[in-house]
Amino acid sequence: MRKKVTVVGAGNVGATVAQRIAERHYADVVLLDIVEGMPQGKALDLMQSGPIEGYDSHLTRTQNYEDSDVVVVTSGLPRKPGMSRDDLLFANMDIIKKVTTEVVRTSPKAIMVMISNPLDAMTQLAFHISKFPKNRVMGMAGVLDSARFRTFIAMELDVSVEDVQALVLGGHGDSMVPLPRFTTVAGVPITELLDHQTIARLVDRTRNGGAEIVGLLKTGSAFYAPAASAVQMVDSIMLDKKRVLPCCCYLEGEYGIRDLYVGVPAKLGASGVEKVLELKLDPKELVELQNSAKSVKELVDKMISKVG
Ligand code: NAI
Ligand code: 2OP
Repeated sequence: MRKKVTVVGAGNVGATVAQRIAERHYADVVLLDIVEGMPQGKALDLMQSGPIEGYDSHLTRTQNYEDSDVVVVTSGLPRKPGMSRDDLLFANMDIIKKVTTEVVRTSPKAIMVMISNPLDAMTQLAFHISKFPKNRVMGMAGVLDSARFRTFIAMELDVSVEDVQALVLGGHGDSMVPLPRFTTVAGVPITELLDHQTIARLVDRTRNGGAEIVGLLKTGSAFYAPAASAVQMVDSIMLDKKRVLPCCCYLEGEYGIRDLYVGVPAKLGASGVEKVLELKLDPKELVELQNSAKSVKELVDKMISKVG
C-alpha cells in the first residue's frame, strides 16, 4: 500500500503542499479542510493534473481524518498587512488544539509537521496536546527563512541559488537568527564575499521576508516557498534521506534552551527528528539564539496558561 500524507488546511499553503507531494509519486494525499467542497474541488483538480504531469498519486478530498504516516498542519488564519505572526496566537490556538486531537485519534503513529503561525508556539501546542514523542512533532520555518536568505544573497552576488547555503535559526519571528558565519557560496563564507553593511541589509530583509510578501499580497501571506520548504522536510522523512535542515525542534538543554520548541539544525529521517545538531556558536550568536528563544517562551507561556 502506498504511504499517506494528510494535509490539514486546503488553503494556499496546504493546496500547494498537496500538489508538490502528489507530483513526487511516493504518497497518496489526504487534503482536508473545514470548508465544505473546497478540499474536494482542489483535490479533484489536482487528480486531473495527474494524466498530464504523469503521477498516479491518489488524492482523497475530505472533511475526515485518515490514518497517515505524516500530517502537515497548515490550518489557521494567515497574516494581514500590519499583523505580526504573534497576533494569530489565540485564533490559531483553538484550531490547532482541535486538529491535534483529531490527528491523535486517527493517526496515532504519525509524524506531525506544523506550519500554522505563530509557528514555534503552535508546534509546542501540538506537542503538548498530542503527547507524541518529541521526534514526531516538528515545525517548518528555518528551511523557509534560510531559503529567503539564500535568495537575497544569490540576487546580490548574481550567482546561482544552488551554490548558496544558508542557516537561519531561532524562532520564526522578528527575532530569528540568520547566521552569516555558517552561510556560504560554493563553500566560501559570505563574510569573505560581502561587506558588513551589505550582510546586515540582507539579514534585515530576511527577517522581514514574510512581511514583505504580506505587504505585496495584501490578502494573505506567502505560500509557494513555505510549501516547498515543508515538502523538503516531508521528503526527508518519507524517503529517510537524513537531510540536515533547520527545523523547529523540542530542545532539552541544547544551546542552553530547555523544554521549548525553537529552530535549530536537525537530521530528519524515517522516525522524524533523529538528531539535533549542536553547532559551536560564538558568544554573540548564542545570545541571539537564546534571546529568540525567550521571545518564543513568552508567547508559549501566554498560550499554555489558557490551554492548561
Ligand atoms: P489560508 O487561509 O489560505 O488557508 C488556511 C486554511 O485552513 C483555510 O482553508 C481554512 O478553512 C483552514 N482551516 C481553518 N480551520 C481549520 C480546521 N479546524 N480544520 C481544517 N482546516 C481548517 O492560509 P495559508 O496561507 O495557507 O496559511 C496557513 C497558515 O500557515 C497560517 O497560519 C500562516 O500564517 C501559516 N504560515 C506559516 C509559514 C511558516 O513559515 N511556518 C509560512 C506561511 C504560512
Ligand atoms: C511567512 O514567513 C507568514 O510565516 C509566514 O511568510
